[in-house]
Amino acid sequence: MSNIIEDELSRPTIFKDESKLSIDYVPEHLPYRENELKQLANIFRVLLEKPGNSQKVIITGNVGTGKTALAKNFGSQIVIIASKREINLHYIHINCRRERASFTILNRIVQTFNPSIPRRGFSTEELLQIMKEILEEKDIHIILTLDELDFLLRREGEDLLYSLIRLFDEQLNAVQRLSLIGIMRSEALFRGMDSSTISSLQQNIIRLKEYSANQLETILSERAKEAFYVGTITNQEITFMAEIAAKQGDARYALEILWRAGKIADSQNKTRILPEHIRKAKSDIHPVIRKDTLRDLPVQHKVLLLAISRALTTERSYATTSEAKRIYRIACEEYNIRPRRHTQFWEYLSELEKQGIIATKISGVGIKGKTTLISLPDIPASILEQEILNLLGGV
Ligand SMILES: Nc1ncnc2c1ncn2[C@@H]1O[C@H](COP(=O)(O)OP(=O)(O)OP(=O)(O)O)[C@@H](O)[C@H]1O
Ligand SMILES: [Mg+2]
Repeated sequence: MSNIIEDELSRPTIFKDESKLSIDYVPEHLPYRENELKQLANIFRVLLEKPGNSQKVIITGNVGTGKTALAKNFGSQIVIIASKREINLHYIHINCRRERASFTILNRIVQTFNPSIPRRGFSTEELLQIMKEILEEKDIHIILTLDELDFLLRREGEDLLYSLIRLFDEQLNAVQRLSLIGIMRSEALFRGMDSSTISSLQQNIIRLKEYSANQLETILSERAKEAFYVGTITNQEITFMAEIAAKQGDARYALEILWRAGKIADSQNKTRILPEHIRKAKSDIHPVIRKDTLRDLPVQHKVLLLAISRALTTERSYATTSEAKRIYRIACEEYNIRPRRHTQFWEYLSELEKQGIIATKISGVGIKGKTTLISLPDIPASILEQEILNLLGGV
């Protein structure tokens, strides 16, 4: 047994540093986002020049246009500059898809500064108050990024945003300690909300455009230099990948193809990435459903999704819920987890639908009685099944 592992580990690889292609890696240099970085610097200048003021910004742009990378890159730099000026500025980045409720978002912030505060037992209002006290007591300023803000707005409306913006407003001339960066794919959600919260947020909007093929080429080649040994990938292959991803203008998709192509080359013991590896990588990856969306799902949701993909692998457009439930129970046994009851099963389904992974509709004629039909609008069932199996591997 140990030989298998040893052999595997001693096999040559074309990766010099695979982590440079991981989902969470934020590059120090973001080509084609220099102007946006300058814009952010100008907006937040006042925090450094007159601490006690706050700012709000919205960053929008399609999938993979660099919204998250831009905010994180800016955050890490501004914190260093602030500390040189002896301003106690912190950058906190929270993903609202992952943190499912206002309560958990606030808890995360409070825990950053005071890990000994119990995770349960406080209401949202109490947590806001605790946060305010900590910031005042320790003379802390924060820039809080609410990434994938659409999820929070759709789930709970604008209450949390409202409270955060108002937090320091009650006292006259109060020191403002909280600035906000909201990230979302589109501004469409704002149209239904015309409150003062939204209009104050909309004063600064940074809109990121999709990347062109040429831009993706630069991004890919910079990253390839960090991730692969010299000579394992040529410009021609980089161009080929950039062209594939340029349809969406999505840097994540481009980088995922690069990573996957590298893995395929390794698995075939090749010393460089070949066009055929890229074509294979492309067919294995789906641009719409993101790897981190699937990765961040709780185990129960993953197992349900595995069941749904299995129910749909056989050239079927729809699965009934009873079918999905039956296969879900079997999958639960496979992974040794307790299948959840009816109500929770429906909650999971509704969560997966909110995240845009599955779609549901009520059956028309043809099936006895009314039932809910589940489908996968964006991703082939076989790819989804494979992704989920990989993710569940370690469970
Ligand atoms: N200008 C750039 N230079 C280098 N890498 C980039 C650039 N823009 C994006 N990336 C990389 O591409 C990937 C996707 O970027 P990011 O996660 O910031 O996209 P996003 O706009 O937040 O997408 P989503 O809406 O799906 O959350 C990340 O790995 C990021 O590091
Ligand atoms: Mg993002």
